[in-house]
Amino acid sequence: MAANHIYVLGLETSCDETAAAIVEVPVENGAPSGAGRILANQILSQIETHAPYGGVVPELAARAHLSHLDGLIAAALNQADMTLHDMDAIAATAGPGLIGGVLIGLTTGKALALAAQKPFIGVNHLEGHALSARLTEPVGFPYLLLLVSGGHCQLLAVTGLGDYTLLGQTRDDAVGEAYDKAAKLMSLGYPGGPEIEQRARHGNRTAHALPRPLLADNRADENGLPKNCDFSFSGLKTALRQATEKAAPLDDAKVADLAASFEAAVADCLSTQTRRAMQLFRHRLSSADRLNLVVAGGVAANQYLRDALRAAAEAENFALFVPPPGLCTDNAAMIARAGAERFIAGQIDAAPMATPARARWPLSD
Ligand code: KG4
Ligand code: ZN
Repeated sequence: MAANHIYVLGLETSCDETAAAIVEVPVENGAPSGAGRILANQILSQIETHAPYGGVVPELAARAHLSHLDGLIAAALNQADMTLHDMDAIAATAGPGLIGGVLIGLTTGKALALAAQKPFIGVNHLEGHALSARLTEPVGFPYLLLLVSGGHCQLLAVTGLGDYTLLGQTRDDAVGEAYDKAAKLMSLGYPGGPEIEQRARHGNRTAHALPRPLLADNRADENGLPKNCDFSFSGLKTALRQATEKAAPLDDAKVADLAASFEAAVADCLSTQTRRAMQLFRHRLSSADRLNLVVAGGVAANQYLRDALRAAAEAENFALFVPPPGLCTDNAAMIARAGAERFIAGQIDAAPMATPARARWPLSD
């Protein structure tokens, strides 16, 4: 049977990117039948607005979303050469995130859906990241997901749309947050991730012996399976602070060594705990086959971490899927895709005007 296609407009305003995108998703036998196409992907980064403050200022973010979202939606429709009436549904991030920003995207999405008489879907931003690999590759369920962003660091078993089981998570800072704080310690710019990655390329990964928190806890259960797939980055940050103070005054070479040593520690933590979760995931599926690991979220844009995770995946006989860097960091294509998958599954918001904006919204129960 030939596939038909659905078209969804997605809006993203939960943090410091204002974004609107349109995706086309092929449908066969009532399910998405492949990656489909991104027909428009408009993103306006607010980095310059927030950089002087070293982090996102919620009130400034909300004002910027309000000023730019309409123009980005018009640009997305223009880029795809479509109108609202060509859409099968409209989706917007309903949380988690900075509530002022979430409200702006969500209210705009509801208003467009009401005016154009289209179904509406309030999307969990984390589900957008969780499904983002499916925008470019036909990666099927189930898969193990490592979600690494500015606010989250989690390992989840993804067995289907909306079916997420938590296997491990950070006990303190998220990885992206650790990168941002580490950058601040070394007086580097915001956001810290790309800046540290770039500096670390010129540094010595073993210059500083920084801790790998929680890796020593390799307790196993009665089946020999790891009990601990958690992360902790606050101790690493403290150790980096001490190393930075000891190395002062800093110059480019010293910053490169600190950044490289920090990144090596993060890579070890992510690879080791993800390997443990791959063992758990394999046991749950009782499978000896090659399985899938998906890495998503802003930190997944990091090439050094991608390489480390690819090696970890190979060692456990997992295939690694990571979206291209521009789809790892916040974007609206992933929100449109998650909305499209919900739409195809018949899960549109029954009373869209009542869909709440949520500052917190965990992916797993
Ligand atoms: O997913 P995202 O764009 O927004 C959230 O939902 O949080 O992730 C942003 C985070 C920031 O903390 C940023 O420093 C980090 O992702 N990040 C990176 C890189 N690019 C962005 N971290 C490490 N290496 C990168 N290349
Ligand atoms: Zn995000």
